[in-house]
Amino acid sequence: MQCGHFSKNGLEYIITRPDTPKPWFNYLFNDLYHALTSQTGGGYSYYDDPKSNRILRYEHIQTDRPGRYVYVRDEETGEFWSVNWQPVRKKVDFWETRHGLGYTTLTSRTNGIEGKITYLVAQDSPVEIWMVRIKNLDKKARKLRVYPFVEFVSGDIELETCYRNILSLYNEAVYDDKLKAILARKYPFRRGQVEWLNFFSVSHRIHGFETSKETFIGRYNDLGSPNEIRDGTLKNNSVRGEDMIGAFELRLNLAPKEETSFVVCLGFAKNAQEAASYLRKYRRWEVAEEELLEIKSYWKGVVDRIRVHTPDPHFDLMVNVWGKYQLSAIIHSRGTSSYHGTEGGLGYRDTAQDSEGLLALRLDAAMEKIEKLLYYQYHTGHAVSGFSYSEGSWDKNHQAVITGKADVAVWLPYTIVSYVKETGDTEFLKKKYRFHDGGEATVYEHIKRAVRYLYKQRGEHGLPYIRKADWNDAYDHVGLGGKGESVWLGMALARACKQLEGLAHFLKDRKTEVEMRRKYRTLAAIINRVGWDGGWYLAAYNDEGYRIGSAKNEEGKVPLNSQTWAILSEVAPPDRRKKILKLIDEYLDTEYGPALFLPSYTRFDPGIGRVTAFAEGTKENAAVFSHACAFKIVADCLVGRGDKAYETYCKLLPMSPAKSDHTKYTAEPFVWAEYVIGPGSRYKFGEGNFTWNTGTTPWMFIAATEWILGVRRDYEGLLIDPCFPRHWKRASIRRPFRGATYEVTIENPEGVEKGVKRIFLDGKRWDSNVIPPHGDGKIHRVQVVMGRKIK
Ligand code: GLC
Repeated sequence: MQCGHFSKNGLEYIITRPDTPKPWFNYLFNDLYHALTSQTGGGYSYYDDPKSNRILRYEHIQTDRPGRYVYVRDEETGEFWSVNWQPVRKKVDFWETRHGLGYTTLTSRTNGIEGKITYLVAQDSPVEIWMVRIKNLDKKARKLRVYPFVEFVSGDIELETCYRNILSLYNEAVYDDKLKAILARKYPFRRGQVEWLNFFSVSHRIHGFETSKETFIGRYNDLGSPNEIRDGTLKNNSVRGEDMIGAFELRLNLAPKEETSFVVCLGFAKNAQEAASYLRKYRRWEVAEEELLEIKSYWKGVVDRIRVHTPDPHFDLMVNVWGKYQLSAIIHSRGTSSYHGTEGGLGYRDTAQDSEGLLALRLDAAMEKIEKLLYYQYHTGHAVSGFSYSEGSWDKNHQAVITGKADVAVWLPYTIVSYVKETGDTEFLKKKYRFHDGGEATVYEHIKRAVRYLYKQRGEHGLPYIRKADWNDAYDHVGLGGKGESVWLGMALARACKQLEGLAHFLKDRKTEVEMRRKYRTLAAIINRVGWDGGWYLAAYNDEGYRIGSAKNEEGKVPLNSQTWAILSEVAPPDRRKKILKLIDEYLDTEYGPALFLPSYTRFDPGIGRVTAFAEGTKENAAVFSHACAFKIVADCLVGRGDKAYETYCKLLPMSPAKSDHTKYTAEPFVWAEYVIGPGSRYKFGEGNFTWNTGTTPWMFIAATEWILGVRRDYEGLLIDPCFPRHWKRASIRRPFRGATYEVTIENPEGVEKGVKRIFLDGKRWDSNVIPPHGDGKIHRVQVVMGRKIK
């Protein structure tokens, strides 16, 4: 079954039925405020951090409730429904939701009344706006009551979930007559907390309001038929010490074909004055319209910044539009999506990868993250597992749960090296930043310390300790005893050494160059000796010396990341490279892409960790883990397998043919999913899960632009090294780089997968495959001809 399709220009995804197999979300956001909005308006909003500053309640994707609803009631018949379909779920005559970049528009027709709601988040303020239109399609006049509705949390969602009956005792929601708004908040209950509030208001005259959830719905009842909507009148209750909602009663008398419109504002303010100023500004239709126009033009700018054009429209759509949008959306709350419960903040390794992905697209956003990464590094070189803008380091607050991810620091050097390649700015390396636990050092020193720390933290086999996780968070028992070692982390560290060797060479810092080369060689030799299982590379040694990923095991064989990173780190000798890539093709690959390993684990192994307890084929237990598949695509490109790189990219696309049965795939067909359930599952193979928040996003963007199109940042300029599917005869990419824009067209007349035969720069023959930065604000044309003979 199909539940939707893209609009013609690809800038909207049009959902054609309200009951999609899972809620299909859009992220509406600015730097401080996020509104996760499903196709029916379900979802939650938060300010700054999704854990500590949750504004709206959201039960779960199972019910996709509550949400930002507009109930409608016919005064004459007493019949009621909701524009959103949810939560009343009356039969609709027409229903459609368009998820766009920065807005969602929902339209429905029921009982001769058309309702249309556009949701958006103001660009510069913590305010979300609903533009609501109600139209009478009937031949006769209609008397309606209309009720905008939300349910508040107004505080910390983790505490709220744990202590449901206590947290509501801090609640207060009142109608402020002067502001014409409902103000909801939790009384501060700890020293240092401040009285922040959420406000909810409409631009239309109101006949009543409600803030008591219990009165609105009625006990033992639910949102589908709330008592007060059934009766028609809201009772103007303010509440203290109970669950809070916001609802208004509007009375509309509409002549035939008449339409009325109003805006609803929902937001976060530090005090009532601030709320008043937001309401003054945004509670106006014209302002909402202007905001919407500006949001659209902002996203057009982002979409236009890097543009690819290839023979595959789906590839282009993901690179040019939806992948970029997803990348911008997730950087504020890297632990949270509609699938995660109460987690907030940003994972350290995730943030490093997001920043790397953002460098070419939104340097300002990338820089802001990079500074945080530097700050959250310890003076030893190690780093915190993650951090929240409002609560600081994760490790300090939740020691037992997430400390001890061994790999975190290894991601920082990659990002910094990419920063220098992107910008050419070596001065940044001299800038000093504080360490999280005191002291300061230059950026260059920060990344050297990361590498040296990891290099020192090695065990019996000479590989880095894994402690509670490497890239794979779910290998959480492998090294709990302090002895387990990670083969993958050995490779990741080798890659970091290689990159620092390159940087040191560029900086003419011979000492570091030699140091890093030595470290790299030592690691490569160790990995090839103790990391090699005979037919492929292992994942890890656990505390007892058990070889995870080995052929001797019944489950968990051929760990994908150890094979792909053997190539990314350039540790694997050529004969092994061929062998492991063949294994990926023949042993791990599926119609959705390669699984993380196979077979999946079927029972808990306390020597490995939670990966073995997840349902077969789900998440790290041998799903087709999209992030890892992106590594695989880059590995393919490194060895010149253009067909295979493209094949995997296509399989991974959320709109790939294998996923066209939406009932089977279930997830949003317009954003990357963290994983597709793997072949180990008894009945869910092919189901997509955990959309939006995934490291797949930066990696797929980099894989497509820098590796498949092959226009890659480098110290001396833009390196041209495409790795195509053979059947692509032509492709192009527009790439801003260090103050100029490069229009690169690539011809592939001989149908090769890799290899550059000729380059013309601004019409003249260019004898190198590095285009030096012009920095002149102009557009430069680069014509590339691929072919068998390199040169
Ligand atoms: C999740 C995490 C990421 C981790 C991956 C594998 O996507 O956000 O940091 O590497 O799972 O465990």
